[in-house]
Amino acid sequence: MSTHADSTQVSISNPKHIAVIMDGNGRWAMRKGNQRSDGHKAGSEAVRNLVSGALDLKIPYITIYAFSTENWSRPKAEVDVLFRLLAHFIEKELTELKERGVRVRFIGRRDRISKFMVSQMEKMERETNNNTKLSLTLAVDYGGRDEIHRAIDRMMEAQQTSNTPWSATDLHQFLDAPELPDPDLVIRTSGEMRLSNFLIYQAAYAELWFTEEYWPDFTQETLARAIADYQKRHRRFGKIK
Ligand code: FPP
Repeated sequence: MSTHADSTQVSISNPKHIAVIMDGNGRWAMRKGNQRSDGHKAGSEAVRNLVSGALDLKIPYITIYAFSTENWSRPKAEVDVLFRLLAHFIEKELTELKERGVRVRFIGRRDRISKFMVSQMEKMERETNNNTKLSLTLAVDYGGRDEIHRAIDRMMEAQQTSNTPWSATDLHQFLDAPELPDPDLVIRTSGEMRLSNFLIYQAAYAELWFTEEYWPDFTQETLARAIADYQKRHRRFGKIK
């Protein structure tokens, strides 16, 4: 039943799925003597560069880390800014993303964010559902460990209500977006070199790419550089060749 870990690709072509940790908004703003919120605003605008780059380079799947389960411990004012920017992003970008053939979906918890926000997210998912050029996934109130815990709960619940003999290797089917392929490449900006609880199950064999640039400075050229470096990597998936 399990197909999740079956990828055995060795030759390197374009990555099919790129996951991005958009880090450094705050430092970008402070460096300019501005408020952290200015960095987040510029960061939400840089998402456009990523989407344009992915469309140009025909990358079919992009996932971005917009708000982590740990980000709730930031000051409330900053949390509010981040959610306001997300609401603004949905309102401002929906028409264009629809026109450009982008399908948007969200992963993460939906029980701790406002009903209004959830309804906007669902609207975006519904209205872009038939698009096929690029699948853009936003991780909101997302944490990899939390996703795994919720997946286990869902699997145990399914076990009680169906006759299917689920086993631990079926766990991926209960993750937030089981239809997404595993990320081939994880990009993180701002010089930090860690996954920070992002797609920790799915990124088991991802190539990691780091840049010192802060997220608001991310351009299509940055994406092209990451992909060029990725194409030089030799993915062995545990094999010798
Ligand atoms: C890290 O910068 C970034 C985040 C906490 C979340 C990313 C959010 C955005 C890009 C803006 C909103 C997104 C959308 C899609 C509308 P940081 O604050 O940790 O930077 P620092 O490490 O320099 O403090």
